Amino acid sequence: MQVDTDRFRDEINHIVSSQTRPTITVLSSLLATQDEFGYIPDLAIEVIAEYTNHTINEVWGVASFYPNFRFTKPGENILEICWGPTCHLAGAAKILNDIQNALGLKGEGETDSGKFTLKYNTCLGACSQAPVISINHDFIGNTTSEDILKILLKIDPKL
Ligand code: FES
Repeated sequence: MQVDTDRFRDEINHIVSSQTRPTITVLSSLLATQDEFGYIPDLAIEVIAEYTNHTINEVWGVASFYPNFRFTKPGENILEICWGPTCHLAGAAKILNDIQNALGLKGEGETDSGKFTLKYNTCLGACSQAPVISINHDFIGNTTSEDILKILLKIDPKL
């Protein structure tokens, strides 16, 4: 267990120390860590504090200020459902409800299987194709719950 932690610490240290920007800051280190893992592991807060010569509280202060940082591991696939005005008028509420039921979720978050993260989006920028979703940053417009479920089942047949 200790070996795993040491290895993980080394990995985070490598990510933080290999930044090519001229000034390495707490924020740049948090961004580099999230780019790599998709979230900020607890151990990264400690490593970044040591590397940048700040306290753990100071690093948490920066990390918790920005809503785009997440502190839990995301699912393997990121599903975003747009519920902006245009998509709402085109039936996004039904899609959201159907997909949440299929994934066993009551809101945003990760499925128990760890296969999916569901996120809401206020506009995916393709309103003319409403309703719109994205799966792993691939946009799918003019879609239906049935179309989305087919895609999700291809990713996780046990759904
Ligand atoms: S409101 Fe859904 S893509 Fe713009």
